[in-house]
Amino acid sequence: MHNPSTIPTLPAARKFVDDIRALYAQGLDQETLWAGIKEAMAPLLADPGLKKSSKTWPLTVEDAPRVKNLLFYEDPDYGFVFNATVRKAHSVTSIHDHGDIWTLYGIIEGNETMNRFDRVDDGPRDEGPATLKQVGTGKIGPGDIDAVPPGKIHQEQGGPTNSMAFIVRAQKAGTFKQHGYNAETGEVKVNNGPALIPYALEPA
Ligand SMILES: [Fe+2]
Repeated sequence: MHNPSTIPTLPAARKFVDDIRALYAQGLDQETLWAGIKEAMAPLLADPGLKKSSKTWPLTVEDAPRVKNLLFYEDPDYGFVFNATVRKAHSVTSIHDHGDIWTLYGIIEGNETMNRFDRVDDGPRDEGPATLKQVGTGKIGPGDIDAVPPGKIHQEQGGPTNSMAFIVRAQKAGTFKQHGYNAETGEVKVNNGPALIPYALEPA
């Protein structure tokens, strides 16, 4: 099985690891750090090698709540991880957050719709009933990077074809709590996030 502490052999991903590590080494505040990582992610998403490699990845998201992520890499020093999703056309996820950590979600191929929500009641974070208000919706496509700050609530919807996304998270899923929300009942479910499938990110 793939060992996620080994650096990806895909050259553009290796460079991205180096760029991120150099940013972490500067001791930046979180917002500046993640703005820098977002900038460094653009060439990776445009890389023909990544696009080619992504065509070999297995389907990971069919519908709520069966969400899985490929796990390519976990940085041994700073803890950031590289994940990916291959989302089935027209699938719709539950409404959820990614816990209290930063996520960058970059589309490689296909289109997705992101619905955004705020929790507008002042109940305890881990408990319902939650009142959600939709505060935005938008389409994202190849090269677009959705930066998800800690705690932000959203829902992803697949487009007319399967879509591939490359994801950078500040920590590996399972090491922090995330929340799933039922907009009708207000139910809040604390969970460990997607199941992880260790997978080698290598040239196709
Ligand atoms: Fe999400």
